[in-house]
Amino acid sequence: MDSVISGEWIKTARHLSALDFSKLNMRLSTDRYISPEIQAREREKIWMKTWQVVGRADELPNAGDYKTYKIFDQSYIIVRGKDGVVRGFVNACRHRGNALCVGKGNNARFLCQYHLWSYGLDGKLIGVGRPDMVGPIDKSEHGLIEVPVDTALGFIFLNPDENAKPLAEFLGPQVLEGLAPYKLDEMTPVGMDVREALNCNWKVVMDAFAEGYHIIGVHPELLAVIDPEAGKAWHGFYGDHGMAYSPFEVKNAQGAGLEEQVEGIRSLPGTFPTVAEVLPRFEALIAARRDADGRLAFPEGVSVRILLQQATRDTLSAKGLDVSGLTDDQVSDNQGWFLFPNVFMTIRAGEATVIMSTPHPDGDPNRCIWHVTAYMWLPQPVRAQYRAELVEVREPGSYPYFLALQQDYDQMERQQKGLRNQALKTITLAREEVSIARFHGVLDRYLADGAPV
Ligand code: FES
Ligand SMILES: [Fe+2]
Repeated sequence: MDSVISGEWIKTARHLSALDFSKLNMRLSTDRYISPEIQAREREKIWMKTWQVVGRADELPNAGDYKTYKIFDQSYIIVRGKDGVVRGFVNACRHRGNALCVGKGNNARFLCQYHLWSYGLDGKLIGVGRPDMVGPIDKSEHGLIEVPVDTALGFIFLNPDENAKPLAEFLGPQVLEGLAPYKLDEMTPVGMDVREALNCNWKVVMDAFAEGYHIIGVHPELLAVIDPEAGKAWHGFYGDHGMAYSPFEVKNAQGAGLEEQVEGIRSLPGTFPTVAEVLPRFEALIAARRDADGRLAFPEGVSVRILLQQATRDTLSAKGLDVSGLTDDQVSDNQGWFLFPNVFMTIRAGEATVIMSTPHPDGDPNRCIWHVTAYMWLPQPVRAQYRAELVEVREPGSYPYFLALQQDYDQMERQQKGLRNQALKTITLAREEVSIARFHGVLDRYLADGAPV
């Protein structure tokens, strides 16, 4: 490729061995997972002050489409206006405070059931029930209370703090630039979009997806393809957020012969189903590299990994996805992005899995709500056809998560049980868990002064 790919700077991510551990707290107090006081502090210093994902922009395609978002006991309406702009409002009538709506739907205006005051999609007070019974009132002073809402990467973000700094500033140029070439805003939930209450603190969920160390204990079948070699991961820390990745390649790729590596790629779909889509093109590229005797011979600079990247580019381009902005590493590797406070996504060309967790509205620090969505890039005409509906799981254990996710699901509740023991005051992080240390460092900074930098 001739032009400089914008994401090349991602290679500036630091190797584990180059990180300065003296600046990181590798010992965490357990009270942060179980204490109602700390949860209350998080509510005030983080959840009432931070940009948070409340949905996807394509959930509200038309004027008047709205949804509600709850964090603890706070409720907001997010609505697309006639001008196409998505806005957020406190979900409370300005007359005597009645909650205006629940769930999602489409409204030409918001009508309060209590005494029939009505509001436009822009939040302005339109009218009151029986004006003769109300007396003079200044409508301009009684519009819905607006809160900052903005969109990025296809997500709608809301910040309960009216003085919030702009979303783009909060996310920062590296997050926006690093994720832009994946075209996340054109991805659709496919196969899985599920939300469920879990018996663990919301940060247990974030921690569980911030490290690959637990593969050896929790996901033993992944060991067939992933080699949990120490220090293989690269880490980039950007503002409050971060990214980590390891090369996606066949186990022992370095030492294996070419035929062995090709066989390894062929076996990947057993663990990574989406690789199947790329295999026909991969086989064609491999076939073209065999000599007259059928032996594989690669010139300098060609490798099985490079052919897998090429096959992925070709396959996705044929579907209509513009992959030109992605680096070769981004095409093949799963990059794990963490957006403070509660979004983890593993992303690579054409697909992403997003895991979010929020404190349980009942305020119990031992509970949370997690929301897991598998996204896939599909051509526009077929997106609606494949779009997964949101499943709200009411009966614990009733949703058929795929194996690896089920293993994490079980593990998180086990960890919370252990963390609740009063005699356990601290936990200790391994070096491979540096992303967890970094997350809690950012969290502590918010809790300490409430003035994120
Ligand atoms: S509380 Fe909404 S109209 Fe009275
Ligand atoms: Fe896991």
